[in-house]
Amino acid sequence: MVIPAHKNSKIINRTKTYETPKAFSDIAMANLNRNTKQVNLYGELRNVVRPGDMYPGVWGWDAAFHAIGLAHQTGFRGLEELEVSALGQTELGMIPSILFYDEDQANRDYYPGPNVWEFINEKGLHISGISQPPVYGFALERILEKDPSRAQYTDKIKHIYQVAYRYHEWWYEERDPEGNGLVVTIHPWETGRDNAVEWDVAKNNIRQTQAYKDYEFDPSVRLDNKKMDVDPEHRPDDEAYKMFIYLLDVVKTSDYTIKDNQGNYRTDLPFCLQDVTINSFLMSSNESLIQLSDQFGTPEQKKQLEIWHEKTRQSFRDLLWNEEAGCFQSRDTLTGKLTKNTNASYISMASNLPTKEQALSMSAIIDRWEKNHKIKFGIPSTSPEHPSFEPERYWRGPTWSIVNYVVVYGFLKQAKRFQCSKLLDQGTHVLMHTLDLIYQDPDFHEYHNPITGKGCGGKNFGFTSVAFLELETMLEDLKKMVE
Ligand code: DGY
Repeated sequence: MVIPAHKNSKIINRTKTYETPKAFSDIAMANLNRNTKQVNLYGELRNVVRPGDMYPGVWGWDAAFHAIGLAHQTGFRGLEELEVSALGQTELGMIPSILFYDEDQANRDYYPGPNVWEFINEKGLHISGISQPPVYGFALERILEKDPSRAQYTDKIKHIYQVAYRYHEWWYEERDPEGNGLVVTIHPWETGRDNAVEWDVAKNNIRQTQAYKDYEFDPSVRLDNKKMDVDPEHRPDDEAYKMFIYLLDVVKTSDYTIKDNQGNYRTDLPFCLQDVTINSFLMSSNESLIQLSDQFGTPEQKKQLEIWHEKTRQSFRDLLWNEEAGCFQSRDTLTGKLTKNTNASYISMASNLPTKEQALSMSAIIDRWEKNHKIKFGIPSTSPEHPSFEPERYWRGPTWSIVNYVVVYGFLKQAKRFQCSKLLDQGTHVLMHTLDLIYQDPDFHEYHNPITGKGCGGKNFGFTSVAFLELETMLEDLKKMVE
């Protein structure tokens, strides 16, 4: 990467002397290996990585990030992880948010387990009925960049490419009710950011409905807030869980599709948003698949991806930019309104979407948060300017290192695209703060208080290890650039 005019930057020059002990990468990798187990899936023994101790399954976007982390060991291990996640794919092409590999254990240890979802794919595997942000294509490209020996695995890669293509086809065919390339989510779990403030208005509207008022939920069935090493105050509250299970039931009544028997989109969905996380990753993954298509796809697939991608880009720019806030935000399709500024607002930087002005505007918000609200460790999951900011509760404030990683990747990408040293500085700044954050927490917590750095949620988290491995490699690349 060559970006001029960085020579006088204090931040960039500091990379030269910034050290992360080599042994810490080994600990991060050991954490991923620790979370790996061999299970029998579809008649074969497979290695699978659980996200952390409290999650007994293969989670959609976790698996894609784990694959990137495992590729620091070998490209083969990374591809293996994508292959396993692909076993959860449905006939229509959806990669589920959860693939359960041990039904009994999952019903015992996790709520809602397979007996609540009651959804089995065509291979006979128990899955959830919804998806998660499409990181799959992005992960495939990252793995192949790391491992130059791709010729050995051409068949495997072609298979994974086809899985990714069908997955994108599913988003565009099954989840684009406005036909404008902005796909919708029908459940907060699908965004990966379960209790983010962006869903508050939609949830309040649902709470006013009679159906919700009449809905009964017994919060004692929850298991996530009863784990020994997880502070229940770091988890979503009971009211959030009532909503999650209510919405699960709503989509379960139509077998988790949002179309009726005639193939028309349902108009009675209580929750239907164009989420910035999902659409941002869709764009990044589109770009990855277009990039890899000459080698692993077909000319028709490339063409189709380009058409989808262009549509999403246009609508994303037209409909999701909040000029007043100076950033991208999720949009509620039921009200047409934009939502709130969160760490997800920045994920679009990992694609070729933002203009230079937009990237700089988003960078300025990070500076402001740091200066006015003592935010020290990258991007909090809720704007600290928002009254609902809770620095230790899941997606309502904590910093998620994995999102910081994607945002750093984005800043460096935009710095290169626009030859802009200011964006390079910001990326480097967030990068080093995130490494500091993870380095001071050898327990690899799921998320952290963005002001104090305190570890929150579960321990030994795969996401967090992957963020460290990736950011450390980026730091080494930056050092070479400065030399
Ligand atoms: C959970 O159970 O915490 C997950 O985020 C749902 O996928």
